[in-house]
Amino acid sequence: MARFTVITFGCQMNSHDSERIGEVLRGAGHAEAAGLDDADLVLLNTCSIREKAEQKLRSEVGRIALLKQKRPDLTIAVAGCVAQQEGEGLLKRMPDIDLLLGPDNIPELPRLLLEAEGAVAPVVRTAFDLAEPHFLAAAAEPGRTPVSAFVTVMKGCNERCTYCIVPHTRGPERYRPAREIIDEVRRLVAAGAREITLLGQTVNSYKDPLSELLPAPGAGEAPWQHTRGLRAREDESEFAALLRAIAAQVPELLRLRYTSPHPRHLTVSLIRAHQDLPVLARHVHLPVQAGSDRVLRRMLRRYSAAEYEERVAALREAVPGVTLATDMIVGFPGETEEDFEQTLGLVRRVGFSLIYGFKYSERPYTAAVNLGDDITEAQKIDRLARLIQLGDGMRTALLAEQVGTTQSVLFEGRGKTGALRGRTERSEIVHAAGPDELVGQLRSVLITGSYKNSLLGEVPGVPAEGPLPRPPLQKSQQAPRALPVVS
Ligand code: SAH
Ligand code: SF4
Ligand code: F3S
Repeated sequence: MARFTVITFGCQMNSHDSERIGEVLRGAGHAEAAGLDDADLVLLNTCSIREKAEQKLRSEVGRIALLKQKRPDLTIAVAGCVAQQEGEGLLKRMPDIDLLLGPDNIPELPRLLLEAEGAVAPVVRTAFDLAEPHFLAAAAEPGRTPVSAFVTVMKGCNERCTYCIVPHTRGPERYRPAREIIDEVRRLVAAGAREITLLGQTVNSYKDPLSELLPAPGAGEAPWQHTRGLRAREDESEFAALLRAIAAQVPELLRLRYTSPHPRHLTVSLIRAHQDLPVLARHVHLPVQAGSDRVLRRMLRRYSAAEYEERVAALREAVPGVTLATDMIVGFPGETEEDFEQTLGLVRRVGFSLIYGFKYSERPYTAAVNLGDDITEAQKIDRLARLIQLGDGMRTALLAEQVGTTQSVLFEGRGKTGALRGRTERSEIVHAAGPDELVGQLRSVLITGSYKNSLLGEVPGVPAEGPLPRPPLQKSQQAPRALPVVS
């Protein structure tokens, strides 16, 4: 039996897959190694969303191949999106790999390892489970289950954003039956989870394949001025109904989040769910990508800036104080300075609590390849820096505004300094001194200071024992108030 270690790149779905990989391997009798030096099997779970991720894989395989020279029995397995994308082609460029498997082939891992053991050539298995989609349920072991756990509700993506490789690496959308999802949430909560984040590439396009969910209030309503007729109806899904079913059937759950929703499925029914369900966090990660309609059209995002803003305004009206995070791409083919100014304009108008900004990176098998990668690296760097500067200013100001307020914080564990670490409903990270018993508890916390990316707090009535957090930023270090007002 092998001692294994898993190295993960990429998004939350990949981290989630890595946990399932660990469970599948442990279930087959393999044991976790203390680290690379101690392992017989190294599994790299890869990401190919941007170019750099692939370069990272190359250097990782190179590093492990050096160990393999000394320990020829060491097995190198590559899973995830690069494996799915490149298949056998990867083996030509990285001959040290023994096993390649796609994201849908994780359940077959024990058998594939046996095959690889006796094989002269590397083993490759990268088939999508289209006919019978399989969703590996989390083991939900007490002691191993984190306070904040993830549950997959769908896999794949039916959008065709022209820059994005995910539909190629993860295949078409497949949904998990609602009863399986609810069961997994229930088991995780019984094992100690207090917060669940539902996962999917366009998580809010969810539909129950068994059609067992009751229609959600607001379903089919489309008051949108900027999204008319048929398109607005196509945006409806059963995601709100799923959220309601989880809230009703697992009342012990303290907090529910989801990522990543697509803006076109931010429907009236979803907004109503936010309004009605106290368990839903007041924070949504809603990728917008760009603020110029010309660029959004060329990205095939299926909404305009006005549509995005209209839906966000409706959410904000229904859920006071809700914060939004987003993803943005700068330097998309043909993006002019004026287009980019429109992106900055949208950021100023909407006001995000966190922006993940990316330089456009041309990916194989994507439609945007035909547009050419015509924005220079210097321009991309410049635009990203300007976006980050604007985003950081807003973020620091938003955090500073919390000082003096009381926030409801779910403590998840201890951070780098050893102090308690938790998150507010709006997803802001809070550090506080306090005993271990607070981990897993939802507490009212007085916010006493702010940092660049997080908050400092005190839990009333609790001795401030244990390691202390860092001192907060002084007033002079905080950015001026920069939050917009959304009308
Ligand atoms: N499914 C999610 C996003 C998955 S990828 C969604 O649609 O919201 C995460 C982020 O990576 C995207 O939101 C996008 O901002 C960025 N991204 C995707 N492809 C990219 C590319 N080719 N170059 C640069 N950034 C990219
Ligand atoms: Fe990629 Fe677009 Fe699908 Fe997100 S919605 S995974 S960006 S194709
Ligand atoms: Fe990367 Fe695949 Fe996730 S490309 S971002 S690991 S879906």
